[in-house]
Amino acid sequence: MNNKVRVGFLGAGNLNSIQHFPNIAASPNAEFYGVCDLNREQMEKKAGHYKPKLMTEDFEELINNKNIDIIWIATRPHLQTDLARRALKAGKNVFVEKPMADAAETCLELGRLAKKKGLKLFTGFNRRYAPAYVDVTSILQKMKTPPMMTYRLADDSNGRGSDIFVSSQLLDEACHAFDILNFFAGADPVEVITFNVSQNNDLVSIRYANGAVASLTSAIKSSMAWPKERLEIIMDNSALSVEDFVELQTANVPGWGSMTKRYEGFEYPGWLSGYKEKMQWEGLSAVFAFRRRWQEYNIADGMPKLDHKPETDKIRGKLVEAHKPFMPPVNYMVNKGWCNADHSILRHLRAGEPTNAAGAVESARSIAVAEAAMKSSKSGRLVKLDPKSWKI
Ligand SMILES: NC(=O)c1ccc[n+]([C@@H]2O[C@H](COP(=O)([O-])OP(=O)(O)OC[C@H]3O[C@@H](n4cnc5c(N)ncnc54)[C@H](O)[C@@H]3O)[C@@H](O)[C@H]2O)c1
Repeated sequence: MNNKVRVGFLGAGNLNSIQHFPNIAASPNAEFYGVCDLNREQMEKKAGHYKPKLMTEDFEELINNKNIDIIWIATRPHLQTDLARRALKAGKNVFVEKPMADAAETCLELGRLAKKKGLKLFTGFNRRYAPAYVDVTSILQKMKTPPMMTYRLADDSNGRGSDIFVSSQLLDEACHAFDILNFFAGADPVEVITFNVSQNNDLVSIRYANGAVASLTSAIKSSMAWPKERLEIIMDNSALSVEDFVELQTANVPGWGSMTKRYEGFEYPGWLSGYKEKMQWEGLSAVFAFRRRWQEYNIADGMPKLDHKPETDKIRGKLVEAHKPFMPPVNYMVNKGWCNADHSILRHLRAGEPTNAAGAVESARSIAVAEAAMKSSKSGRLVKLDPKSWKI
């Protein structure tokens, strides 16, 4: 592709407007060409200043526009799969936010459709591009034995309302963790067992074909004052941990020794950016400080649960605006790789540069673990997976 990649966005909601819109607008390889949302007022507010050539409430108009190269979809998990299928059928490359589908087989079906039509299909497993995890990837490539991995994904249903809008935390949110664990393991997951504590609170163990193992604490009964994600890996008489994408600790890691590396936060247009440097200087203690403040503000202000109802969104929006001078967007203040992943996809489309961005097969592998984890959560039994089926 000689020209810039012309992007047509589907959805002008939370994630597209705070992540993909600014990331793609900032890329030298892309043009913010068009946008479609059912809610015109919101679309104009969130996307109008990018001056897209097309703004429409009609999805068909977006996917049939001959100038658009890729449809970038972030609507809601239960709506996205069919919209992605229709965009592929219309001959467009597609990026679709996670989860690509609620079944591994459906991810593969979309992958086969893309392949048949000579199109590219990507999904939003951005953690592969988080700077801290890029370092972990390079460390793992030099290791001789398969890793033993522990992951924590700790949400707060009081702050996020996950129990209201999430069909299953193991599908909608833990698919991120399953993908990064699969990626770090460097092999296919073959067995999954889950111990269920209560609805959407599970401990999942995974065994991989190369002997790697992983365990995931997937919880919605944590606190917004607690860092959301933590990775720990033990292998080859060495160990490492990454706390919420800001602090990598290594112990006896070849080429790294025993040290701490900190990573800056992720900057947002319209927000004061001081927190970005604070993460780099103070690492985890800065994350704790911001999260505790967020919790205090929310309790003091009576922030309502996120339930995606317009009246709730309005109240939340006002409180977030009021906090802007003091508080970064708490779940987005650390760098989980969104921008780097988007830019890698665009360079791949424009110049054929290799990319680690996840496609249909990687989606199927992650969703297969999620499906097995949900099944095992109900039965308490070990579920075997069939990696041979993850082919397109
Ligand atoms: N990768 C990540 O880190 C990450 C983080 C958060 C959310 N997500 C994913 O992003 C997706 C979007 O989440 P969100 O919080 O932005 O949702 P949201 O509800 O804020 O936004 C969805 C938007 O899609 C629009 N929409 C729905 N159906 C439509 C249709 N048929 N045509 C046009 N517009 C339509 C809605 O009007 C709304 O504006 C979800 O799948 C979620 O899982 C990913």
